[in-house]
Amino acid sequence: MLDESKFDAHLQLWALRIPRELCKVATKILNGYLIDKPRIKPVTEDPTSEKNRYMILSERVQNCADLSDIPSQKLDELQTMCKIEVVPYSLTLGYSYWTAGHIAHLNIGDELLPYKDVIAKVIYDKNRPRIQTIVNKVGTIANEFRVPKFEILAGKNDMITEVKQYGATFKLDYSLVYWNSRLEHEHLRLVSQFQAGETICDMFAGIGPFAIPAAQKGCLVYSNDLNPDSIRYLKVNAEINKVNDHIRAYNMDGRKFISVLMAVPTSPPNGTLKSEEQNSTAGAFSKLIYFSV
Ligand SMILES: C[S@@+](CC[C@H](N)C(=O)[O-])C[C@H]1O[C@@H](n2cnc3c(N)ncnc32)[C@H](O)[C@@H]1O
Repeated sequence: MLDESKFDAHLQLWALRIPRELCKVATKILNGYLIDKPRIKPVTEDPTSEKNRYMILSERVQNCADLSDIPSQKLDELQTMCKIEVVPYSLTLGYSYWTAGHIAHLNIGDELLPYKDVIAKVIYDKNRPRIQTIVNKVGTIANEFRVPKFEILAGKNDMITEVKQYGATFKLDYSLVYWNSRLEHEHLRLVSQFQAGETICDMFAGIGPFAIPAAQKGCLVYSNDLNPDSIRYLKVNAEINKVNDHIRAYNMDGRKFISVLMAVPTSPPNGTLKSEEQNSTAGAFSKLIYFSV
């Protein structure tokens, strides 16, 4: 029997207690820093008073002591309107909350492989139109881009999808780039340690699950990946999340990338970094360097 409680995601968040009449303008000010999940309203009742509302902050806001994950100019704006009061807020997303995208990803074991087409057809027929593509993972991941191989068992050959993590949107082609939704907590845990204004180096950036939220936080992120498709999607995602000005994207071997960034060579490699960027990064990196694999 299915234990639905195993699907529960318990989020420990923070909320701001705001006078009811100020919620509309506070929502505008906090754009990008409120919880952004399908079907979850960021403004909710204050159980202790009808006069106030809770504005639930995004998972990206971890530091409740000084709310340093939110730009100070936004906090100043809020403070001119009212006293800022931070309260803990627990949210459980249960079994009924979770929906699925258009791709059904199967890992069919050896003993069931002779029946793979039948299995796929039944899943496809019984879940249309929501599920449009049924894929099976083939073999183990052996390539350096860490991309699994899939065979399409039913439906259309469309592996492009969008996923959300802590309010950021990531577009990707599952058949071309690395993605693992189970790393969400790790992405969040690391990014919560970054401060606005810091310079981050993400040597194995993939499609940007560290780089994009770090840029949203106000960090300047030098992001690199050897897979040209990952970098293509990283740029798309920087665009979607409106952080292009905080992302520098490079497509080279990590060893070369780091040596190019840390050195100030006399002749920069063609088409890689502009020399003025190199001059500025060589010093700045002493502050914080992060390698993600
Ligand atoms: C496990 S994935 C992690 C990606 C990303 N940090 C994430 O959390 O989704 C490792 C990434 O390293 C990239 N990679 C592998 N070898 C590399 C190399 N020599 N130089 C730069 N990137 C490399 C792969 O293309 C892949 O995107």
